[in-house]
Amino acid sequence: MEPVDKALLRKLEEARALIESRLGELSAGLSNLGLSDAVSYINSGGKRLRGFLTLLTCETLGCKANDAIDIAIAIELVHAASLTLDDIIDQDRERRGMPAAWVLYGVGKTAMVSLFLVPLALKIIERFGRAALSYSVSAWEEIVRGELLDAYASVKGPLVSYVDLARLKTGPLFALAVALPFIAASRADMAEEAYNLGDLIGLTYQIADDIVDYISYLRGLRPKLDTSERLLREWAMNELGANSDDEVVSKALDYLREKVTDVSKKADELFTSYGQRELMKEVPRFLANMMLAQQGLSL
Ligand code: IPE
Ligand code: IPE
Ligand code: MG
Ligand code: MG
Repeated sequence: MEPVDKALLRKLEEARALIESRLGELSAGLSNLGLSDAVSYINSGGKRLRGFLTLLTCETLGCKANDAIDIAIAIELVHAASLTLDDIIDQDRERRGMPAAWVLYGVGKTAMVSLFLVPLALKIIERFGRAALSYSVSAWEEIVRGELLDAYASVKGPLVSYVDLARLKTGPLFALAVALPFIAASRADMAEEAYNLGDLIGLTYQIADDIVDYISYLRGLRPKLDTSERLLREWAMNELGANSDDEVVSKALDYLREKVTDVSKKADELFTSYGQRELMKEVPRFLANMMLAQQGLSL
């Protein structure tokens, strides 16, 4: 049998090809609004991990191919919108190895195009019914709440813990990537449990991202620490007993390893009656490793 990581990598490549081609068509279709260039730019260059998780979950559940790609695209659109808005807030001038959208298109147009992408995605989701729409609206609400706390509140007081903030910002789209396929596969009864699993996958992915950003800062590759990484450091020192920069990294990695093992068990339980259970069980670790690989790390 093909080793699990190899199978996941192969499926990620397939997912990327499909997502790229659909996003290209979608951007081209907006030329009458004069938005093709900006929409195409905002959507280019991502790792497509949320779309991949969606397609993998859909395949596991036996969803229709068209439903699967529609959900994946909707999630990637919302993700891209959230990143462009995040870069404005964080005043980051680079994203996905290119200038951030606001640097090229200005804050106003970038913000408006991002805001346009969210209802565009919701309209794609609409045909899956009220529950799908309701999960998607709640997800967007949580992401924005997370961003607000991250950018404007968390530094001023203990309004939110590091772990809660990481989950709020990044859990919801991974949550949709697992929950919406259940709804599309007529298993809405399992959507809540699926949402909670995806939420935890997103949390572990965000912790991996913060560890990578923290290491980049320590190595002089990033000029500043954002709230997320500052909270990571405080949390590692106060809750995990770290006493130095190196220990912040090693203790956060230990925590992440444990959490991923836990999430993996939950995935195994959720997909217990499905054929691709092995892949779904390994996907939380695989996703965290995709992020950690940027600094040569793995769990
Ligand atoms: C970046 O996510 C922001 C986080 C929530 C960690 P990704 O690193 O998955 O973004 P892209 O889509 O691959 O650029
Ligand atoms: C993640 O925030 C972005 C969103 C969830 C919208 P961060 O500020 O932590 O992500 P990066 O490091 O800029 O990708
Ligand atoms: Mg940011
Ligand atoms: Mg931010």
